[in-house]
Formats: sequence, C-alpha cells, structure tokens
Amino acid sequence: MNKAEAAQKIADLTQKIDYYNHQYYQKHTSEISDKAFDELLEELIKLEEAFPELKSPDSPSQRVGGTITKEFETVVHEYPMLSLGNTYADDELQEFDQRVAKGLGTTDFEYFCEMKFDGVAISITYENGILTRAVTRGDGVRGDDVTANIKTIRTLPLRIKATDIPAKFEVRGEIFMPREAFNAINQDREQQGLALMANPRNAASGSVKMQDATEVAKRRLDCYLYSLLGEDLGIETHEEAIKAIERWGFNVSPTYQKCQNIEAVLAYIEQWREKRHELPLDTDGVVIKVNAYRQQRQLGFTAKSPRWAIAYKYQAESVATTLNSIAYQVGRTGAITPVANLKPVQLAGTTVKRASLHNANEIERLDLRIGDTVFVEKGGEIIPKVTGVDLSKRALFSEPVIYISHCPECGTELIRQEGEANHYCPNELSCPPQQSGRIEHFAHRKAMDIDGVGTETVKGLLSNGLIQDVADLYDLTFEQIDGLSFSYYDEEKDKTVKRSIKAKSAENIIQGIEKSKEQPFANLLFGLGIRYVGKTVAEKLAKHFKNIDAIMEANFEALVEAPEIGDKIAQSILEFFAEPKNQRLIERLKSAGLQLSVIEESLESDVLAGKSFVISGVFSNFGREELKKIIEANGGQVLTAVSAKLDFLLAGENMGPAKLEKANKLGVKIISEDDFSQILKGNKVD
Ligand code: IVH
Repeated sequence: MNKAEAAQKIADLTQKIDYYNHQYYQKHTSEISDKAFDELLEELIKLEEAFPELKSPDSPSQRVGGTITKEFETVVHEYPMLSLGNTYADDELQEFDQRVAKGLGTTDFEYFCEMKFDGVAISITYENGILTRAVTRGDGVRGDDVTANIKTIRTLPLRIKATDIPAKFEVRGEIFMPREAFNAINQDREQQGLALMANPRNAASGSVKMQDATEVAKRRLDCYLYSLLGEDLGIETHEEAIKAIERWGFNVSPTYQKCQNIEAVLAYIEQWREKRHELPLDTDGVVIKVNAYRQQRQLGFTAKSPRWAIAYKYQAESVATTLNSIAYQVGRTGAITPVANLKPVQLAGTTVKRASLHNANEIERLDLRIGDTVFVEKGGEIIPKVTGVDLSKRALFSEPVIYISHCPECGTELIRQEGEANHYCPNELSCPPQQSGRIEHFAHRKAMDIDGVGTETVKGLLSNGLIQDVADLYDLTFEQIDGLSFSYYDEEKDKTVKRSIKAKSAENIIQGIEKSKEQPFANLLFGLGIRYVGKTVAEKLAKHFKNIDAIMEANFEALVEAPEIGDKIAQSILEFFAEPKNQRLIERLKSAGLQLSVIEESLESDVLAGKSFVISGVFSNFGREELKKIIEANGGQVLTAVSAKLDFLLAGENMGPAKLEKANKLGVKIISEDDFSQILKGNKVD
C-alpha cells in the first residue's frame, strides 16, 4: 500500500470508528459487534504504525493508549485552579446568599446548581477544535500534563465537529470512575488475587496518574465537564457556557438546574440528597454558582476560592459504635483481610455489625484499640468502613492492636511481600479457606459453571474427606454424595448449620460436574486460580497458546510475548506450573476429559457472508447463543441494534416491540426461525 492509499484507508477507518464510538457513547446503541469494532481499530493502529506521519492527534487509536509516560511534565495553569468554600449547613448557605447580595448591591441575581462530582479535577485545552493538552489540578497553580491518559476517555471529544467554537478555550471538569466500572474492576481484581481498590475516587486518581496509557484505557474512566474558560468567548452566563459545551459534544451531567433564589437552591439540595445514589457515579454535594459572568467578576475571589460559588456537602452518614474485636479472614489466594467486629448499630437503613479495615497499614493509621469507640461511615463502598476513633472515649490503659503473625485458620507464619499492603498465608496446599476457596472459584459460573457446587457443598465435601482439590470432583459418584450430611458455620446467622444432600441435589451435582467437562479451555484456565490470571488474561492465554501443554512449556520470554501478559503474570504462571502438585492436577484433569485446548471454530460455510442479523426474543429450536454461533460460523455477523443497514431481524417469541417497530419502519426484513433454517440451507425466503 502506498502512502496515498494508506491516507485514504486511515480516513475511512477513522470516520467509521468515530461513527460507531458516537453511536455507542452518546446514543447508547451499537450497530457492530465488539469483535468487528476491535478489528477496525486494530487495522487503523497497524496502518498508523506503518505510516507514523499519517497519525493525526485526534486519531481514535489514541483511545486505546499506547503511550508510556515516565515522568509527567509540570505545566503552569493559564487560569489557576481554585478550590471552593465548603458548607454542611443550610444557615451557612443563607449567609453565603446574603454575602452575594451585599457584594452585588442587589438581590437581582440567579444561581446555577450542579452536583459535586467525586473524582479528579482536570483542565483540558482545545486549539482549533483539537484536544491539545490535559492537566491535573496539582497545587492549583501548576499540575501534571496527563494528555495521553486523558485521551483514552471515550466520551471526551478529541476533535470538535461544531463550527461555532472559539479558536482556543479550556474546559474543566471531573474525571471519575463510574460505580459500575469500579465494581467490575474490583471483581476482576478479586479473581486475580489482587488488593481491591478502596473507592471510585481513589481508583480514578490512581488511573489518571498511571504511566501506561494502555492500562488507563482499560479503567473505563469517564468525565463530566462543568466550566468553560477563555478570552472573548462571547458568553454571558454559566448556563450559556454549559449549554454550549454540551452542544459541542462534551459530556455534561444532566443534573444541573438554574435556581432563581436560595430557597430554590435548598430545594435542589433536598431533591438530590437521596436521589444522587441512583446516579452512575459518586457525588458528595452540590456546587452553587452565581449564574451571570458579569456578577461573578464583580464578586471576585478570595485568596483561595471564588466569592461567587460555594460547595454544599452532604453529611456522610456516620455513626459511633464500639470495636469489639478484629477478625482476620483468609481468602482464596491466602490474602488476609482484617475485619472489625462492631457492636451492632443502625446506619443508613441497615444494621452494621462489621466494617472493612483493609490491611495492617490501615489499623496502624487509625491506631485502633479493642474497646475503642469508632466512627463508621457508609461512603461509596458497599461495605462500611471505620473512619476514625473517638479519642475522648478511649480507655486509659488500652494497647494498640498487634497484627497477627500466623494464619488464624492453619497456624502457618504469614508473609508480606515487599510493596504489598496485604499479608499472605503461604500454606496454599492445606489451609482450609484457601482449599475451599480454590474449589469454589473453579466451580464458579465464570469458570467451570458447575451447577450445585457452591460454598456450602464444597465445605461439606471437604469436611467429609471426599475431595481435596478440583480434580477430585471428577471422581465423585452419586452414591458417595447422596444423603451426605455435614455442618458448617454460617457467618450471617453466626451459628453452625446442619445440612444434608438429598438425592435430587446429588443428581444435579453429578450432572453439573459432568457437563462442566464441555467448558472451553479459557474457562478452565481461569478456574485454576493462578494468581493474576483473571478471566480476560485466561482468554488471551488460551487464544495465544491454544493448549495447556504449550503454556506449561513456555518460558518467561515466550509468556511475555503473548498479548497483555506482563512480567508479573508471566512469573506467576511459571511458579504455578513449576509445582509438581499442579502438574499432577493438570494430568488428572486431562484424564477426566476436560477441555485443555482451544476448539477452533472453523467456518462451516459462507452462505451468510455479508449478511447481518439482530436476534430478538425466544426461539423453540435454538438457544440465542447457539444462533449467534451458527450465524458467525457461516460467515454472517450478529449486531445488537436495528438500523437501516441491517439485513435481517431474526424474531422469536416475546421479542422487544421497539425493535419490531423500528425494523418495520426502516423496511428491515423480519424472519422467523424457520425462515432462518431455510436461508442456512441456501434457500431464499420472502
Ligand atoms: S466548579 C473555583 N463544579 O470540587 C472552582 N467543581 O472544591 C470551581 N468539583 O476542584 C469548581 N464537581 O474538582 C465545580 N460541578 C462542579 C464540581 C466541582 C466537583 C470539584 C472540583 C474542584 C473542587 C472544588
């Protein structure tokens, strides 16, 4: 391909990717599968690598990172980034209102209210419509240039299409990690045996300062913009500015509201006090701004903050109670998590008995002592946390908590690796919670998906000596487990519960185990519970190496050559397979008939080549997943949204009426499952 052809191809790809991105992030629809989208992006990246001079600063390839920043450059802000005065009380807001009225010499002014987003402040400069620089707040005067990282945020325009924009301007806003992304990432980290991130704000600020933009891209950050700065903008009020940046394609939270007076502001605050928990991100208050720029200028600034704005902070729900004891939980990977056992107390509508203490550093930081009166808060996290100690109530001769040195479950001496916050129990083999945790993880829906084998059953099978590791599951017989009785400690109920496995459940378990033999290789690899090998990593490994022997034979260099496998993961895989007991385990899983290699899905035919399908509803002869596989194996493409370009809407029972209506309106062909079978046979349907 010559340069001119490459330029043309790059332009085509850019246009397509921008279009799909816009559909996805602004319109929340998708006309293309993730796989097809990734392929477009990959093609663009390859072309840009071959012709670096053709890479534009607003190329959508920047969304996936690729830049490593060793040290962020310090940049002086053109306009300092100030902070806001805070208040927690209504009467202080009234005082603010009076100060504003006095400063302006009139009561003829309006307020503009927004939520106070709990993330990381950012200032982003656009020149001639192109994002040129993004800088953190830093100390307010100078911050860090984090442009490469910020460009990975997909809702942030890299180039603005609107034409009514100033030649140069700055937008400011808050980068955040949506709660859903935070939970998903933490779940993934848990599966990989990594320490959990404390809350979405820390997660966002940590992500913004990562050195590898490719990693940042995976963090699914988002950004709300809430101010516009620049010379001669021709804009007179904050409201106009917000509407303008919204029009230019920036992500503005739809929660804003203009308020005519302080009473309306107070009503806005009340309206959002509870409702804010339904928003996709954490918020900790409301920011109240005088709307007219002329009046903002008239009021001016104090040394630290504007006189024309204030933040009202919602009181975090906090309560005082007694720290009765500290329990130490041992996870599947041996990681120790200290948990505070509290005198039960009501907080935000639930009874709280336990609170997370994270690790030894946290206990030390809080200088906790048993019997202390502690403050417990429910913040963004689901599990409440201990935020402090009421020192005035501390007993005279209390002693600081001494962190445990040995595993509370098996007595093995704990280890703490350099740079790790958590202590670990190294007795992988026979420490009971590690043993049961490993088996539960193996049976989990995302791994081998073994029906009927959950926490309780695993404990029952272990305590009866029927299993010791995951391979033992495949030797179990119906006779062994039918009627098996066991007891276990139920943490919720705080007592020992008796159970027995009835014939029906026993049958279910045996069937579930048998069926799990069909689970794909990647699921099995994930199920092994190798540290740092989460579901995505397992999928990458399976795709790259194709079978278990290739992975076991791979040395460090070969492992890190696989996509997205870094040093730490490679080292962990090497250590896992170096263990003779793990080698034996694999041999046994092999003989049990599990999938230890990838089954290549070959193209069965190309009768559906170039045809796109949307599947909706329930079918009598096929499962939806099955239909998807059949379409793809025969060269067709499965989309999720109905558009004019779609070839067929494959309609089952109870399909969504909106899809049907749209398909009818756009003249898309609607087919039944029988029609589909005909098309597969190469027949025409009308
Ligand atoms: S306006 C002069 N609006 O709160 C400062 N800030 O304490 C004008 N923040 O650093 C800031 N949501 O990071 C503004 N809707 C909002 C905000 C907001 C969150 C943060 C921002 C700022 C801090 C001020």
